[in-house]
Amino acid sequence: MVRSLSNVPIFANEIFNQLYKNMRILLLGSGGREHALAWKINQSVWTNPLYIAPGNPGTSQFGINVNLDITDFEAISAFCISEKIEMVVVGPEEPLVNGLCDFFQTNEALRKIYFVGPSREGARLEGSKAFAKAFMERNHIPTAGYREFTSETYEEGVKYLQEHSLPIVLKADGLAAGKGVVICHNYLEAIAEFELMIQQSKFGEASKKVVVEEFLDGIELSVFALTDGKNYILLPEAKDYKQIGEGDIGLNTGGMGAVSPVPFATPGFMHKVEERIIKPTINGLQKENIDYRGFVFFGLINVKGDPFVIEYNCRLGDPETEVVIPRLENDIVGLFVATFNGELDKVTVRVDPRAAVTVMAVSHGYPMGFEKGFEITGLGENFGKESLLFQAGTKEENGKVLTNGGRVLCITSYGKDIEEAVNTSLDMLNYVNYEGIYYRGDIGYEFIKH
Ligand code: AMP
Ligand code: GLY
Repeated sequence: MVRSLSNVPIFANEIFNQLYKNMRILLLGSGGREHALAWKINQSVWTNPLYIAPGNPGTSQFGINVNLDITDFEAISAFCISEKIEMVVVGPEEPLVNGLCDFFQTNEALRKIYFVGPSREGARLEGSKAFAKAFMERNHIPTAGYREFTSETYEEGVKYLQEHSLPIVLKADGLAAGKGVVICHNYLEAIAEFELMIQQSKFGEASKKVVVEEFLDGIELSVFALTDGKNYILLPEAKDYKQIGEGDIGLNTGGMGAVSPVPFATPGFMHKVEERIIKPTINGLQKENIDYRGFVFFGLINVKGDPFVIEYNCRLGDPETEVVIPRLENDIVGLFVATFNGELDKVTVRVDPRAAVTVMAVSHGYPMGFEKGFEITGLGENFGKESLLFQAGTKEENGKVLTNGGRVLCITSYGKDIEEAVNTSLDMLNYVNYEGIYYRGDIGYEFIKH
């Protein structure tokens, strides 16, 4: 059955929603992002039932966890067929970069499933830095100047580095678990890193090709679009805090917290973002016949009031999702249906005007080595209407929830402003505990007046 929305002007139409009450949904992933998505999908009038593969103990509050390997396409296919799944929502990038969308499209039994996530070609925006840079160049999208090198052009690369201004940014072309970007502050370091990446395969296949780019000095933010390939909607913007230490010091992590809205993302700045970056990206995808129905994550940097693209991702961010999704008021499954059907032009985004902040609690030692398996207490606390607890690296054993990763859980709170929201999350963190718990107390610091 094709569920067309063409005659339905608004999603808030309750009678319309009543008509479409059953959608069997499979969500792929297991982190805090997926817990937040499961929370939101579960609120949809369409959802019945929701499965999460593999999920975590948190996602099982909102659906049924299924023990599936999300890189095993045959297993996903068999599950979708046996459970009559009607919609698949992909959280992480890996299955998309490996072509899960194409796998669905070319399989007769799966092609009618509402698949949320780009084709393999679209996912190359994240899966290949060189592809993303060339795409931006072709479509005149502002980004740092660059060159790409392989072992064949290694000597030329070394020469290029020696003449480059400092600092120099080196990027492994392929996926490198978030570790493939190295910012070098002198030539010795840059050449050594370049050699490690290309000649010593530091990141395996991923660093056989290396992008060398200019360093852009500014403040970063994350902007998310949901596109059907020709139309798009913008979700609330966010800023994440990548470094382990308060005041943005120390090693990079997967993200220690996030805030939304971002105060410097004024209407004037966001207008530039849309005109110079979002529209040319969506138009570029369409012009180049790249099938893209899903989220585009624009990692941007504000350089003296002008936005530049640092990176694209083909998915939502983590922990940004844990603040973006709680602020989105639309029925998310309705948005996904419109995405699949190419009808996002009929949608009006509604956003909760309150600020949202999430604070990530991690394991002692993270992002270096850490121990797992500590019992987490306080998860059953009543966090009230202002706060939400999302689990990330957790597992359940004998009825207990244990730590099972570097980033363990996060608490998102709403507030009239960032300060109020972060203070609520920090208060709530007093109720949860596990051995070695660590979190940053300063998320959103630069937006708080003292
Ligand atoms: P990525 O893995 O692409 O998200 O890059 C990791 C981080 O490196 C980004 O979030 C930025 O903080 C930094 N970065 C990447 N490219 C640049 C650049 N051209 N100039 C300055 N910082 C950069
Ligand atoms: N928070 C950055 C990311 O998800 O890649």
